[in-house]
Amino acid sequence: MRSATTPLDVLVPGPEHLAADPAERRLQELYAAGPGPWVRANFVSTVDGAAWGPDHLSGSINDDADWRVFRVLRSVADVVLVGAGTARHEGYTALDRPRGLPGDGRPLELALVSRSGRVPQQLTEGDRPPLVLTGAAGARTATRMLPADRVIVVPQADDADEVDVRAGLVALAALGLARVLCEGGPTLLATMLAAGLVDELCVTTSPCLVGPGPSRIVAASPAGAPGQEQPAAGVPSPPVPARLARLLHAPGTGTLLARWLLR
Ligand SMILES: NC(=O)c1ccc[n+]([C@@H]2O[C@H](COP(=O)([O-])OP(=O)(O)OC[C@H]3O[C@@H](n4cnc5c(N)ncnc54)[C@H](OP(=O)(O)O)[C@@H]3O)[C@@H](O)[C@H]2O)c1
Repeated sequence: MRSATTPLDVLVPGPEHLAADPAERRLQELYAAGPGPWVRANFVSTVDGAAWGPDHLSGSINDDADWRVFRVLRSVADVVLVGAGTARHEGYTALDRPRGLPGDGRPLELALVSRSGRVPQQLTEGDRPPLVLTGAAGARTATRMLPADRVIVVPQADDADEVDVRAGLVALAALGLARVLCEGGPTLLATMLAAGLVDELCVTTSPCLVGPGPSRIVAASPAGAPGQEQPAAGVPSPPVPARLARLLHAPGTGTLLARWLLR
């Protein structure tokens, strides 16, 4: 069980010390979304660049400092967006607002991006089904598991079975879900970066190394499989510049939490 009481030092724009705060008002200010529709991605990485630990889960490489900011990011979002792979691997269920943090009282929505339309069973059984952004074939599968109004069909122009994530974001905004928090995974992030859809990238660097094997936070292949080193289609070149807006440090562990603006 993670604790959100670990102290943090703000190095940029700091210096400032953030003691434990049940309401996290200062952290909410430091992580306020930009104006208008805003897409934030939040990932954790080891020092040697891995997106997951030996158990293939990100929970084995994150820590209390990451958890503290992770909750704040959820508290200032309208919707959490994940690839279906992350929902399946990490066992996502319907989301609750982090307890005790100020918010607008609206429920936190969960939206999956899925080409296949396969929604994990634990998400189809509750009374708060997720939204699914999918293409034509995926929609036929997803509507067998979810109410039709939870399935957002956003086909790409040149292949109706592929998902147009940009159109999906527009559809979410039209539902009042304009502050998007993408929590993974590496395959979805690769697509979104390639399409220029990410306004900011929050990266926690965990003070550990796990060795060869896991993907980086940006998948090198659609499956993100180890050993498949070809770049994802459409990866921008030259590299996207990133501007450091925040840098936090957990004095107890050395964990670094950065907020990078990509536009
Ligand atoms: N380090 C971190 O912060 C972090 C964050 C999240 C996840 N992870 C880890 O990442 C691993 C999962 O990696 P992953 O790359 O497989 O995750 P992912 O991107 O969440 O899942 C890939 C699946 O999501 C769907 N998808 C993603 N992008 C899509 C697109 N552009 N169009 C259509 N469908 C899309 C597809 O689902 P369908 O198969 O249904 O078509 C695809 O098979 C897990 O080990 C997890 O623990 C790490």
